Amino acid sequence: MDTDLLFRGYLGKRVHLGVTGSVAAYKAIDLVRGLLDCNVSVSATLTDAAAKFVTPLSFAALGADPVYGAMFADGDDPYAHLGPGRAADVLAVAPCTANSLAKFACGLADDMLSCQVLAHAGPLLLAPAMNPAMWEAPATKENVARLRDRGVELVFPGSGKVACGDVGNGRLAPVAAILGHVCRLLSPQDLSGVRVLLTLGPTREKFDAVRFWSNPSTGRMGACLATAAWLRGAQVHVVAGPCSLQLPDGVARTDVTSAREMHAAVSDLWPDMDIACCTAAVADFRPRPFGETKMKKDVIGEGGLTVAFDSNPDILAGLGASKRRDQRLIGFAAETDDLRANAAAKLERKNLDLIVANPVNAHGSGFGSRTNSVLVLDRTGRREEWPSLDKSEVAWRIWDHLAEI
Ligand code: C5P
Repeated sequence: MDTDLLFRGYLGKRVHLGVTGSVAAYKAIDLVRGLLDCNVSVSATLTDAAAKFVTPLSFAALGADPVYGAMFADGDDPYAHLGPGRAADVLAVAPCTANSLAKFACGLADDMLSCQVLAHAGPLLLAPAMNPAMWEAPATKENVARLRDRGVELVFPGSGKVACGDVGNGRLAPVAAILGHVCRLLSPQDLSGVRVLLTLGPTREKFDAVRFWSNPSTGRMGACLATAAWLRGAQVHVVAGPCSLQLPDGVARTDVTSAREMHAAVSDLWPDMDIACCTAAVADFRPRPFGETKMKKDVIGEGGLTVAFDSNPDILAGLGASKRRDQRLIGFAAETDDLRANAAAKLERKNLDLIVANPVNAHGSGFGSRTNSVLVLDRTGRREEWPSLDKSEVAWRIWDHLAEI
């Protein structure tokens, strides 16, 4: 997933990071960075073996505080092994070796990190990394099953070539994925079990073998909404037009190209959804295709090229027309003028619960921008203007607002 889609409002939250002795230990440094970027406070413990691969100083220099080492070091707090249990909202161990995994499964407490894990009653996340043979070993499988039964969150390793040259499962999951799962554990689960459908990105309407009609949407606003809903516990299904953003691995995704493909996918999914949120910049018109081959430029004479267009289905309006009483619908309105009047008319006409309108021609708002300044109108008549905010923050506020109406 793209880490810059994550909500950054975790001020006041604390994560304790355990690092164990794997070649992948250096990747934990990026995890600290990512957590600090989300405004999470971080402390860390390196096992003796981890400290052979990376130094405690790297973690301290980045801002992890405190950074614990061995037990019984002279002058250390005698209750350091209880510190994370008292202060941290989440304890994450990444990378987690086969040895540490086994210790946690058995409840052993023979070094600083295993004591801290045992004394931490809150959410525990483990991101294993080891040789594929060790990962596939029956003992490791039993330990994993035991930990999962106990409610421990595991971010499973991926497959590929590991340090020793063997190929198989055992590579530490991408740091971005681990970061996403830690943030999920830090987030309120107020959308737990809620089924959310999202459209995002542009659509492409084919003209000939090499040309299409489209718009500059990058899908960022929708991707932030999908990520925020997933962080808050929702079951999210995205129908995405062509765009390169990486969503969390827990988000289902159907990729489409044209408005008619998006319409078909969304229509199939909608009856099983609680909420739909249409952020896609759907092309309202599609050119009448020239054909399957490339149109040569020399066929255009003095009079230029005239292309005829047909209308595409209005996906959002279709969802509004078939909306049940238990379903909620959010639309977007990208406008160049009369923002409020246009948004209010769309809220009514498309039978929406909430509409988010933004001026596409304003600085720091609209297509491709990291920020958005929006006007929010809802079916109860409430109207709010939000200042220019990061799209991840706008997304968070939209889910807050929907919960209130
Ligand atoms: O009417 P307008 O296109 O401005 O409405 C914008 C809203 O409608 C957005 O939420 C957009 O995703 C949705 N839309 C749609 N299908 C279309 C056009 C727009 O779902 N063909």
